[in-house]
Amino acid sequence: MAPVRERFLNACRKQPVDCTPIWVMRQAGRFLPEYRELRKGHTMVECCTTPELATEITLMPVRRFDMDAAILFSDLTVPYLAIGVEFEFKEGVGPVITQPISNRTDVERLIPFEAEQALPFVTESVQRLTKQLEVPLIGFCGAPFTMASYMIEGKSSRDYAKTRTMIQADPELWATLMDYLERSICSCLLAQIKAGASAVQLFDSWAGALSVATYRQHALPWLQRIVKCLKQTGVPVIYFAVGASHLYPCLREIGADVLGVDWRIPLSQAHQQLGPEFALQGNLDPTALLAGTDVCLQQAQIVLDEASELPGHIFNLGHGIMPSTDPDVLTSLVDFVHDRSRR
Ligand code: CP3
Repeated sequence: MAPVRERFLNACRKQPVDCTPIWVMRQAGRFLPEYRELRKGHTMVECCTTPELATEITLMPVRRFDMDAAILFSDLTVPYLAIGVEFEFKEGVGPVITQPISNRTDVERLIPFEAEQALPFVTESVQRLTKQLEVPLIGFCGAPFTMASYMIEGKSSRDYAKTRTMIQADPELWATLMDYLERSICSCLLAQIKAGASAVQLFDSWAGALSVATYRQHALPWLQRIVKCLKQTGVPVIYFAVGASHLYPCLREIGADVLGVDWRIPLSQAHQQLGPEFALQGNLDPTALLAGTDVCLQQAQIVLDEASELPGHIFNLGHGIMPSTDPDVLTSLVDFVHDRSRR
């Protein structure tokens, strides 16, 4: 087997690269015809919890495109299987929690768990993958705020009003929930790292809903503890939040190696506000891929130009790839990024 390609990890560590590495969020998913075909015979939960299936889906984008990293096929909701929070995937909506949590009794009912025992299929999938992959595998988990808001709201929400209310009405209950999630998330990510993941990403997709003061007091301390615990392993930690540029002064304090930038803000501006110590990941607007290859590559060149002064850049989209994306446009994008950034 060829040695694992280091380009992505070198960029995470702000070390020299031969060209800019690229992977895209949600690369293992619905825009791929081979994924849609496989999903006809299996539920989403089956795909996540069966190592043969999760492995196969993780490999799909790596086989088809010249990606510099793979991301484990799973979902933000998978740890809920161990926590004792029931949910189902609803067509066109996503995961829906059967009984969202709202009070102390609900929080005290959450099951403390060790990921290796409670989610053995994750370890097995990662082990299988790292035996086969010639690029690094990224493990992932939801960040505590986003995991908690899913449990409280029950599904994606416009304003996360129930969550923001709980934080203010009962900060002690919120802290109990966050303590519990901190332990759970550390266990999930450490298990993935122990099984062979080369980097981990914390998805805080909904953190942009918080004010600076609320984020600083009610989300940041737990993120800092999680990152501190992961740092002992030496693997790069990526933190990604959406619509969160108002939170940049706080994001600097998390301790992550790489910060994900969504499509709303130019990379040079993010770099200026975040400072020189972070590699940045991003940030092509996912809809650029829907506008045709020419437009997509023009926009990609702008992202590369914006990244020219960064200490480390991992090309990615500003959020997940849209299900209606033509895979051939992504093929052109991946090759373009490599060619145009060749040192
Ligand atoms: O990036 C990858 O390719 C790895 C797999 C991955 C999935 N979900 C698979 C998935 C990852 C990293 C996630 C993370 C995730 N899941 C997040 C955070 C990242 C983000 O995009 O903001 C969130 C909020 C979820 C919860 C979730 N799961 C939603 C809201 C939905 C429905 C909407 C959507 O974008 O699909 C899902 C379903 C889901 N997760 C699918 C996949 C491939 C589609 C399932 C299907 O219909 O086959």
